[in-house]
Amino acid sequence: MQTNNSHIYVIFGASGDLTKRKLVPALYALFVQNLLPVKFALLGVSRSHFSDDEFRDSMKSAINTFKEIDNIKRIDEFVKLIYYSSIQFDDVTTYLPLKQRIGELRVKLDISGNTMFYLSTPPSLYGTIPSILASIGLNNELDGWKRVIIEKPFGYDLASAIKLKDVLLKDWHEGQLFRIDHYLGKETVQNLLVTRFSNGIFEPLWNRNYIHHVEITSAESIGVEKRGGYYESSGALRDMVQNHLLQVAAFTAMESPSSLEPDAIRYEILKVFQSLRPIKKEDVTTHAIRGQYLQSTIKGETISGYREEEGVNPNSVTETFAAIKFYIDNWRWGGVPFYIRTGKRLPTRVTEVVIHFKPTPHFLFSKGLAHNAHNQLVIRIQPDEGVLLKIGMKIPGAGFEVQNVNMDFHYSELSHQRIPSAYERLIYDSIRGDSTLFARTDEVIEAWKFLSPIIENWKSSKDVPLYGYPAGTWGPEKADELIEDNDQTWRYPCKNLADDGIYCEL
Ligand code: BG6
Repeated sequence: MQTNNSHIYVIFGASGDLTKRKLVPALYALFVQNLLPVKFALLGVSRSHFSDDEFRDSMKSAINTFKEIDNIKRIDEFVKLIYYSSIQFDDVTTYLPLKQRIGELRVKLDISGNTMFYLSTPPSLYGTIPSILASIGLNNELDGWKRVIIEKPFGYDLASAIKLKDVLLKDWHEGQLFRIDHYLGKETVQNLLVTRFSNGIFEPLWNRNYIHHVEITSAESIGVEKRGGYYESSGALRDMVQNHLLQVAAFTAMESPSSLEPDAIRYEILKVFQSLRPIKKEDVTTHAIRGQYLQSTIKGETISGYREEEGVNPNSVTETFAAIKFYIDNWRWGGVPFYIRTGKRLPTRVTEVVIHFKPTPHFLFSKGLAHNAHNQLVIRIQPDEGVLLKIGMKIPGAGFEVQNVNMDFHYSELSHQRIPSAYERLIYDSIRGDSTLFARTDEVIEAWKFLSPIIENWKSSKDVPLYGYPAGTWGPEKADELIEDNDQTWRYPCKNLADDGIYCEL
């Protein structure tokens, strides 16, 4: 449905990669589906100098290259809505011509005062740009809404996150701030809520009485690619756990919200974060394992280790793998361990939530070879989105031997409708002013608070091992020791790829 929400969409950092790969293709997809208002303009802003036409040409080729939607017939019509202005991000005097340009476009195209500011810039500018915009009145909502969208990382640690919060909230109110966590834009992450709260059969079992432990794995087969410079200052814990995976954990663990209103859901997420049992400094080594990928050979091809990647310090101690164990201290989850594991250069790309149920109190039958008495509900976030229930069934023939079978649902079977990308969904929501799937300030601060002891410990302590793992394996085997019950392991959806699957301590 086309909205009457006329506005100017300003992208800071418009000459960058994210704009080309994700933002403009997603805006085009919305345009093709008539989900943008009739009165709309996209204003790219960056340091480089381009004319409107030059910028339009580069966006046209970006839409063709990073195709988000099959229909490319309306690209020319769309790029007519695109404009460009150059700016020095930290120089307030260059913002005055920008303000004037926004005003002119508004008059020329009869657009209301609504303005979106998307910061697709280095995070060091997340405080600077909104402060300067506010200093020249571009946060003022008298003539229409003004919103700021920022990408993670929202701070580097607890102290910097609090500083950023203070800077932003000085001039902008919470309702104007949209913090993108693209995992929340994924259909299957949202489907976690639907799976849990639209079915009568899961919720009665969804608690400490029936669940043995919860595992969240997000594996990537790629390395850091060309992002070594960024990754060096981040590492797996900040890059994936602080934001995406703790949000997924919150969707898995939260109570039913009272409604689908943004704050009803976000309060439930906050409550989960507030109930995370703090990890004591002295317990970090038994609750968190870090690793870094080493050179290895996969199918005859030599794969570089992390320290050999472009932009990476040859003595780097940045983790490319992180696994943590934690507890949520509330009535539903008291005593149930949660495990999160993520890493680069693992054997495959998969993100899944695995609910490991408790075994039957007494096992009556003889075990078949493949039988694991713990039922598992696997919610696959990506790829091959779906839900898999592992249950024991009788092997045909004499006797009562049991083996595991899968009840397997693939999201692709649900409809032939195109699944929108996370960016498309989140940009659309931000335009409608729906902040449900965006992280609120208090959630972000709580998540940093929880991870602080690990961050501090990994930064300062030379006694905390950083385990090497050959690229193409499931990370350090040491991570298996996090799982409390000897009978249990992480779920390994596929085998190690590297020739030697052993780990060594760096
Ligand atoms: C990003 C991280 O936020 O998420 C990347 O910075 C990571 O390092 C990416 O590769 C993973 O996203 P997805 O959607 O491919 O799982």
